[in-house]
Order: sequence, then structure tokens, then C-alpha cells
Amino acid sequence: MSQKPMSYPLMEKLVALSRRRGFLFQSSEIYDGINAVYDYGPMGVELKRNIKNLWWQDMITSRENVLGMDTAILMHPKVWEASGHVVNFHDPMVECKKCKRRYRLDHLPENTKKCPECDGDLAEPKQFNLMFKTKLGSTDEGAMDVYLRPETAQGIFVNFNNVTSSNRVKLPFGIGQLGKAFRNEITTGNFIFRTREFEQMEMEFFIRPGENAEWLEYWSQERLNWYKSLGVNPEKLQLRPHGEDELAHYSTACYDVEYEFPYGFSEIEGIADRGTYDLDQHIEHSKKKIQYIDQENRGAKITPAVIETSAGVDRTVLMIMTDAYWEDIENDRIVMRFSPKVAPFKVAVFPLFKKQGMPEIAKNLYEELRKHLAVVYDDGGSIGKRYRRQDEIGTPFCLTVDHESLDDNCVTLRDRDTLEQVRVPIDEVVTTIIQKVNA
Ligand code: GAP
Repeated sequence: MSQKPMSYPLMEKLVALSRRRGFLFQSSEIYDGINAVYDYGPMGVELKRNIKNLWWQDMITSRENVLGMDTAILMHPKVWEASGHVVNFHDPMVECKKCKRRYRLDHLPENTKKCPECDGDLAEPKQFNLMFKTKLGSTDEGAMDVYLRPETAQGIFVNFNNVTSSNRVKLPFGIGQLGKAFRNEITTGNFIFRTREFEQMEMEFFIRPGENAEWLEYWSQERLNWYKSLGVNPEKLQLRPHGEDELAHYSTACYDVEYEFPYGFSEIEGIADRGTYDLDQHIEHSKKKIQYIDQENRGAKITPAVIETSAGVDRTVLMIMTDAYWEDIENDRIVMRFSPKVAPFKVAVFPLFKKQGMPEIAKNLYEELRKHLAVVYDDGGSIGKRYRRQDEIGTPFCLTVDHESLDDNCVTLRDRDTLEQVRVPIDEVVTTIIQKVNA
């Protein structure tokens, strides 16, 4: 469904929690902020990094036939002419003649003629290109117009020859990368769902033409399963095939992985059959040979077709945060029920008091755990407040060193979700926590 610029109570609570606990801040806040651009704080960056690492592990490291890359954000402007983005990458926009607000036509109810904000008349729709333009070069005269990339995919396509000539690859194979992308979106909103600067995790899977349908099916299932593995409610995830009218200019078939946000099912990833479109376009525009010599087919020179998996890092962060948010009324607390694998910190260590040897034991434990996991140490404020803080940043386990620890060499292990507390011998804590985090 299309995104509507409305506010939802859960989203407002997430925005407040993100700011309060250091997940996300509006960019340039001390100058009143910049619209639809966000900064990740200390908790947010850990969550985001975990997601990116899990994607890299699942899509690149664990697969024999997928290689990684990291291509530049700035590319030759001809790339975007060839890819079709200069001509086709736009959204229909309408502007209010009175207040000058701009709207995406497809985000307004059909046949709307009035501005939803000020009731002024709306002008005729125009096509608005979403790419950010900038200048490359040190003098104004010699400068070249370039774009900030609106997708990471083109960096992969233009490097097809470089990768295939420097690595032993056989069809089918993939090239993946993650990195920033930029779009001058007309309407933004719902926190980090649609922003102007965001990160993508993309993989282009090169195949023999004709095998498109089976690989599209394969990757759609793989990607849906990956989201399920992040610990979100599987009932809120779905795969939705695109209708003809929704397909991007380069694609002939596409599935979206969608999550049910408070504003309805919305896209977090697209899995698209891009056919030979991109390589054909770059062959034509660059006048270079971009081809694969198919040894299994008597050395035939072919242009491979492509199945693309294109995920948004920030949307995945938002999905995980939305899914994790829980108001535990009974215990008067807010809990981010992150799966341990995405949680910013896996475990927190507290000395009950800053005396009687408790901090020393706690510090030692913290140092031991830190060799293996992301751990937080906290000795400030009441124990209740310390637990609340860890609940809100989603730390699955807390360890408290108390009076008894001095005698029995055990600590209290508290489970974030069940609130169950058990005593664990100090010399078993590291293995116990590692087992629980990996369970
Ligand atoms: N290479 C194909 C491509 O870029 P897309 O559907 O336009 O396809 C892929 O984008 C993913 O990138 C989306 O599913 C979404 O997760 C993310 N994305 C796109 N635009 C975004 C924006 N303005 N803000 C945040 N994420 C965005």
C-alpha cells in the first residue's frame, strides 16, 4: 500500500523512545533539524550494524556463489542515463498554489483538487526526478553534474567485467553490496520509513536467461525467511507480487516482502526480475562488451539475466523496532523485545552497590564477557532504574552482583521478557550467556 503522511501513536512512541535512549535523532537537531534525514545514536548504530552483519553473513559469507563489493556513491553521470534513472526515476507531484506544499499524487485520495493542509487549489501534476544533483570538480566552469546514487545496484552492473575477470565465477552467481543511497522524496514520513538518505542491502544474481521465474521464486522465499530469522512476528510478514502497473522501469516481475506496520502492510524489500535490462543498457551506452563466456554451453557469449534482492536497512531497523515495542502494563515498564542477535547489547552487568567488593567482581565479569559479546556496565542509580533502562534498549539479560555473590560466587541472571531470576555460578556465566544469546 502507499505511504500516507499521517501520525500513529505507536510511531510517536518509537520516536520518543529512540530519542530518549539514543537510537535515532533528527539530523542537525540544534538547527531545528532537516526533514527526513536521521542520525543513528549509540544504540541505533549497534542495532543497525547487527542487521547489516547478519545480512552480509546470510547473503555473502555463507554462500559459495555470491561475492561482495563496496562501490562509490558518486558515479559517472552516464551511468544514470544508461540505467534509465534520468528519464524514468520520477514521481508524479502536485504543488499547492497557496501554501506551496508538495505531495506525491499517488499518496493523495483519487481526484483530489484541494490541498489537505490549507485547502488551497492544487496545480496540475508534474513529474519530479528523485535524484540529488551535485557538482564534481574544483572550478565552476570545469565542474561536471553528478548524482548521488539513488540505488547501489548500478555500482554492481558497471563492475560486471571487473568482477568476472578478477574472480573465478560461474553462472549462476551473485554480487552484493550495502551502502548509502539518496532520493529527494516528495513526501516522507513515518519516521525512518521513507527518508532522503538511507542505506540499501542489494544483491544482483546473474543467471542464464530463461531461468528467471525459478530464481525469482527462490530468492523471494530466501529473503522472506531471512526476515523471519530476525525474530519478528512471522504473521506480520508477507510476500506480495507486484501488479503490472507497479513495476519499476527495469523490471518485468517483482515480489515485495512486506511487514504490517501500524499504517498497514508496507514494503521492506523488493525482489525483482531485471532481466538483461541493465547490462544491455550499459553495453549500448558504454560501447563496451559486457558478456559472460558460457563454458557449459560450448563457449557461447551471453548477457546474463538478473534477479535482484533489494532491501532497506533503515526500514528493517524500523520493522524490528516496531515489532519489538511492548508496553508491559503489569510490570509498569516499556520493553524492546529484540531477538538477542539484533539487540544492541546482549547482556548488562551491575554491582548492586558501589562497595563491599561488588564493583570489582562486576568489572571482572564485564571484562570477561566483553571478549565475546556486546556488554554494558552500569553502576549508577537504583537497581530498578538500571533494569528499566536495559528493558528500553532491549538488553535480553542482566547480571547483578550482590552481597551473596561475595560468599557463594554466584550472580543473579535476570531474563528481560519473563523477569525470571536465577543464580548462576560466576565461572559459568560466560558460557551460559553465550548459549542463551545463540539459542
Ligand atoms: N535497486 C532497486 C531499488 O532500489 P526500490 O524498491 O526503489 O528498489 C529498494 O528500493 C528498497 O530500498 C526498498 O524496499 C526500501 O526498503 C528501501 N528504500 C527505498 N527508498 C527508500 C527511502 N526513501 N527511505 C528508506 N528506504 C528506502
